[in-house]
Amino acid sequence: MAKLWGGRFEKSPDEQLWRFNASIDFDRRLYAADITGSIAYARALERAGILAAEERADIVEGLMSVLAEFEAGDFVFQPSDEDIHTAVERRLHELKGDVAGKLHTGRSRNDQVATDVRLYMMWKISGQELQGRDTPATESESGIRALVQEVQRALVNQAESQLGALMPGYTHLQPAQPILVSHWLMSFFWMLQRDIERLDAQLPRISSMPLGSAALAGNTFGLDRATLAEELGFETVTQNSLDAVADRDFIAEFLFWAALLQTHLSRLAEDLIIYASGEFGFVELDDAFSTGSSIMPQKKNPDPLELARGKTGRMIGNLVALLTVLKGLPSAYDKDLQEDKEPLFDTVETLEIELPVLAGVISTLSFRSKRMEAALQDDLLATDLADYLVRRGVPFRESHHIVGRVVRRAAESACGLRNLPLSVYREVSAHFAEDVSTVLDFRAVVERRAVIGGTATSSVTAQITQARELLQQ
Ligand code: ARG
Repeated sequence: MAKLWGGRFEKSPDEQLWRFNASIDFDRRLYAADITGSIAYARALERAGILAAEERADIVEGLMSVLAEFEAGDFVFQPSDEDIHTAVERRLHELKGDVAGKLHTGRSRNDQVATDVRLYMMWKISGQELQGRDTPATESESGIRALVQEVQRALVNQAESQLGALMPGYTHLQPAQPILVSHWLMSFFWMLQRDIERLDAQLPRISSMPLGSAALAGNTFGLDRATLAEELGFETVTQNSLDAVADRDFIAEFLFWAALLQTHLSRLAEDLIIYASGEFGFVELDDAFSTGSSIMPQKKNPDPLELARGKTGRMIGNLVALLTVLKGLPSAYDKDLQEDKEPLFDTVETLEIELPVLAGVISTLSFRSKRMEAALQDDLLATDLADYLVRRGVPFRESHHIVGRVVRRAAESACGLRNLPLSVYREVSAHFAEDVSTVLDFRAVVERRAVIGGTATSSVTAQITQARELLQQ
């Protein structure tokens, strides 16, 4: 039995206990991080005088072969592989013999797993592999940060292509004021931009190396942790071994980050689902990004958007699951901490598949400008009508009331604000004059909002310019 422990045991573990205890089914995802960490650790052991140069070379060569087996998909797991750390060491032993047994000197799976998870996250977020070294690299993916930016880019591109098109803006999902379609699209860019900032802010806390903390009290072999950290691409080393082996704050933070990102994506999805409905018909999803019904031939369903909305449940659930695991844990490592991984992997892998799909949905979306313009009801001009009176010296509270009466008169005579005769306006208030017609124009209403952050074309163009700069950084 190639277990990492067992000397003090008289019996082998119960089979069901073994399955309950093992994490290999999910932590095999850490193979590249585990092997990278071990290669660097072997070098650190050599520097500390624990491994001779040939021993180190043998171990590194063996680990590279193990990595190659994983990458090629032909690593063969054994029933004794309790977790990824055990599996890698067991295989190294098969390839290189007893020298493999020296690799774990002064190291515990407690500092090892904490290091692996941090490396995994650094790579998953930034998509950067370890460069310029003969140490292995993770599977190349563009990284979650870049995938969020792909969604942002799709939003900005569409905002640019739709510049000038009008739509009703809603509050309480009731028509409120006319806005630019591009303004609505860009509102989601900024939500995601805050997500990018929040992601960047947590990177330094992820990039802190626990290796060298050993089981709980620290390494006894004079390990040069700073050099080891640098070699692995960590910005700092952790300062307290007890804290370091049990700290999962960085995972909780990331899961919160993802839950909030997902909440933003869900709100975008909800808008699009409503706007794609038959009744609204503002947008149409591309055939490649929608699905059909097995019984109703006419249907074209926004499934990817509904999934983006629905997956919010598990993303929030993953955060709550981890916080619940952490609450009340006694000091240092406890096996409860093995429960950090499935929520993390689920969140990472959900985002990796979801974000490119959403970027695809957005960049292939078609906008039905005519329907959006047709949805601009005259009532949407009411605020500007009140502002018109304000400019003529009427206090806003009073002008609000006056315009309310005008709206009612328009409804009574079943005509819109734009067709209501000037005489009726003047019956309600003598402050209305001939030039009121200049207010009663959707485009003029939009262009009047040229404040920073407003919906005027000039303001939205400024947003787009700023967004492009942010995306280039
Ligand atoms: N599979 C374990 C985990 O993910 C590795 C650490 C095991 N440490 C221990 N003391 N049993 O947490």
